[in-house]
Amino acid sequence: MFIENETYKCDCIDLDSEGNGVCKIDDFIFFVKGPLKGERVSIKVDKVNKNFGLATLKDIYLKSPYRVKPECPYYEQCGGCNLMHFNYYMHSNYKKYVVKDLLNRIGKVDTLVNDTIFMSDPLHYRNNVQVSFSNDNGVIKAGFYAKKTHNVIDMDTCIIAPQIANRIVVFLKRLFTVNKISIYNPKTKKGCIKHVIIRANKKSDVMLCFVTNTKELEKRELLVSEIVKKFPKVVSILHNINIGVTPIHLGNKTNLLYGTNYLTSTIFNTKFEIGLSSFYQVNTTQMEKLYSKVFEYLNLNKDMTLIDAYCGIGTMGLIASKHCKEVYGIEVVDEAIYNANRNKVLNNINNATFILGKAEDEIERLVNNKKIDALIVDPPRKGCEESFLKAIVGIEKIVYVSCNPSTLARDLKFLKEYYDIVEVTPVDMFPFSNHVETVCLLLRKTYQL
Ligand SMILES: C[S@@+](CC[C@H](N)C(=O)[O-])C[C@H]1O[C@@H](n2cnc3c(N)ncnc32)[C@H](O)[C@@H]1O
Repeated sequence: MFIENETYKCDCIDLDSEGNGVCKIDDFIFFVKGPLKGERVSIKVDKVNKNFGLATLKDIYLKSPYRVKPECPYYEQCGGCNLMHFNYYMHSNYKKYVVKDLLNRIGKVDTLVNDTIFMSDPLHYRNNVQVSFSNDNGVIKAGFYAKKTHNVIDMDTCIIAPQIANRIVVFLKRLFTVNKISIYNPKTKKGCIKHVIIRANKKSDVMLCFVTNTKELEKRELLVSEIVKKFPKVVSILHNINIGVTPIHLGNKTNLLYGTNYLTSTIFNTKFEIGLSSFYQVNTTQMEKLYSKVFEYLNLNKDMTLIDAYCGIGTMGLIASKHCKEVYGIEVVDEAIYNANRNKVLNNINNATFILGKAEDEIERLVNNKKIDALIVDPPRKGCEESFLKAIVGIEKIVYVSCNPSTLARDLKFLKEYYDIVEVTPVDMFPFSNHVETVCLLLRKTYQL
């Protein structure tokens, strides 16, 4: 019925959870990057499947009042953000709707979904960036990859990156050019610099890591001294070796070139050391709002024992430890557990224990040996293993923090047999993208208020 490469006029009737326009022709649906709900557009058909098609936006005949000119000049090419053409004030509604819809459709959960906690000033919200480099006929480029490619979009500034990271990247491009530092070429698999990771705290202290395809970082001493001279706020310089084509961003070996092998961040009057491979929420302002919601839902007291599952460097558990009897954190990355133990000492906390291992392997022993009153669950995007969920169903109160509402919905479908899903609060941790963080309060069906 529809012919590939032909152009059709249609209406965009919705935005899906990936931020794509849902365009309808008769009763057939096409997913299209770019259109907003309510727009009349023309689309070129790329692929027709049995139940839906994929298409490319060609023209907009009737524009949504919520369409805005993206502030970023690289937005159309760059694969970093995907909703900058949509008025930011409407993102809260959209994200709330996405969470509600996925909970309903996947989890069959119908609960109170609060308004999204959004940012009043969403620019430069990220506290870390990974910038890729390429050498294009002698011109060194630095930026993010173009959509669905490994071609680097050369950019002088990124409006979601920390300001200091933008200045460092411009400086590095010049430094690499002047000193003829070789850049990794994925085709020949030769060259040194693959990418640079820059992490900044609220005071703009910086951790910088060169990720190379070679064992040695070319002109290492010169690079370090020039960076430190120009940017005294750089407190940590690392070199990670990641040879060859690998799907992972970091190799196993990291050398310390300057300063400390961690960056320090203070939130809720608690000091945290963060190592290179340890997880830290990317948006510090929103992280504080997210954690406040978690603590509100936990409503801890000094008699309570808490598990912080998937604890990272121990952030939530250590802040919570000041308000409860005991905390147990579980985390699979050893550097994160090393940081968590250091952070415990740094803050004179002595009622927290951190366990290195997979949450699904460690949880059963913990719940069998201790009376646990509350649990924080904050898994990666894939959500929890069913064995983990089965092990926790005796716990009275669960606060589930999720960066993926689809896997949250799947896990809630299992947990709702045992728990009242009291309420859910979306948090806009990733402005200008379709991604949304969600906090959910669950109380055991036998819970006595
Ligand atoms: C979304 S992060 C949350 C970290 C922490 N709660 C925070 O707010 O900073 C998920 C964490 O789970 C860890 N992780 C991934 N799979 C795991 C598993 N099977 N068991 C335990 N931890 C895991 C990751 O290393 C990461 O630190």
